[in-house]
Amino acid sequence: MRVETKLIHAGELRPRPQGAVSMPIYQSATYEYGGATDYHDIQYIRLNNTPNHTVLHAKLAALEGTETALVTSSGMAAISSTLLSILATGDHVLAHDGLYGGTSDFFTTDLPKLGITCTFVDANRPETWEAQLTPKTRAFYVETITNPLVQVVALPEVARFAKAHGLISIIDNTLATPILFRPAEHGFDLIVHSATKYLNGHSDIVAGVVAGSAKHVAPVKHKVDHFGGSLDPHACFLLHRGLKTLALRVRHQSASALEVATALARHPAVKRVHHAGLPDHRDHARAKQLLGGLGGMLAFELADGVAGATRFLERMRLPAHAPSLGGPETLATRPATTSHAGLSPQARARQGITDDLIRISIGLEATEDLIEDFTAALT
Ligand SMILES: Cc1ncc(COP(=O)(O)O)c(C=O)c1O
Repeated sequence: MRVETKLIHAGELRPRPQGAVSMPIYQSATYEYGGATDYHDIQYIRLNNTPNHTVLHAKLAALEGTETALVTSSGMAAISSTLLSILATGDHVLAHDGLYGGTSDFFTTDLPKLGITCTFVDANRPETWEAQLTPKTRAFYVETITNPLVQVVALPEVARFAKAHGLISIIDNTLATPILFRPAEHGFDLIVHSATKYLNGHSDIVAGVVAGSAKHVAPVKHKVDHFGGSLDPHACFLLHRGLKTLALRVRHQSASALEVATALARHPAVKRVHHAGLPDHRDHARAKQLLGGLGGMLAFELADGVAGATRFLERMRLPAHAPSLGGPETLATRPATTSHAGLSPQARARQGITDDLIRISIGLEATEDLIEDFTAALT
């Protein structure tokens, strides 16, 4: 099956439950004992194994091309449980210097309290990685498309390096989704998502996903089961419903974001546009070779700095001035005050996240209307 068909049919129950064409919500906390011999197989919502969970797991694994998948109560539940299933006191991890703010903060604030250390590396410079390895390095963590600067780092090299050095490679595929990039095909061991974003696509739930081999996902499920990070069946239903239109939405948003980025790059009030789809971007050739598009996000800086950024956010009419991304409505935010506010000013400066940077998540509106609105606000 091609990916569009998998979105509709993969994992669905056959025969259909009571003939229902759309998967019903099984709003039951517990189920009659079915002979399970392992605690983690007892059917109970916290153990992430009701009918709404198992159907979603099968669909998500089919989409990512992995043996199995697991939904969680948020993207951060997926990320923290994955890392804590691999890392123990004394361990060390490599991560790209330029991750989503919450993940970055988890590496720098939470893991050290457990005696786990992280070295941030430039995932664009493979020649620098070996020198950062220690005998206790266990994993290498990257994102497919970085947030908010829309960069694409040396992804196949990360997976190969991890394999060669016995590390587990982990990739956050939130911004690309399996429509644009399937990390397992490039050798990544574990894939995480904030399903809050494109996978659900409607700005109405918080959810996460972990996908990979059964060997790698089973320890994550144990952690999620014990930390209580399961996804509620009603949120499972909404995620399931949202997934069916993923390909249509992501392709529209990718094309629209590239058009908007091109228009912004031509406007005299704009100093710089960040989007690897633009031909003069450092990662353009790699992005074109590896990905089926760059997704719906872009970022830009204004010639007039923070004052200009503030005025732009006040004067734009269509976007909501709000964090998050991947929904049907266009959202605009300043990452220094929202998604990356948890980073120190020095860390933001090192990563190139200036105070005046505006991040836009392109929604499903007509591209022409967005360009007209942005142009009017800039003018
Ligand atoms: C790339 C990326 N990963 C993970 C997360 C965390 O996801 P959640 O908010 O669903 O916990 C986010 C949230 O913005 C994100 O942008």
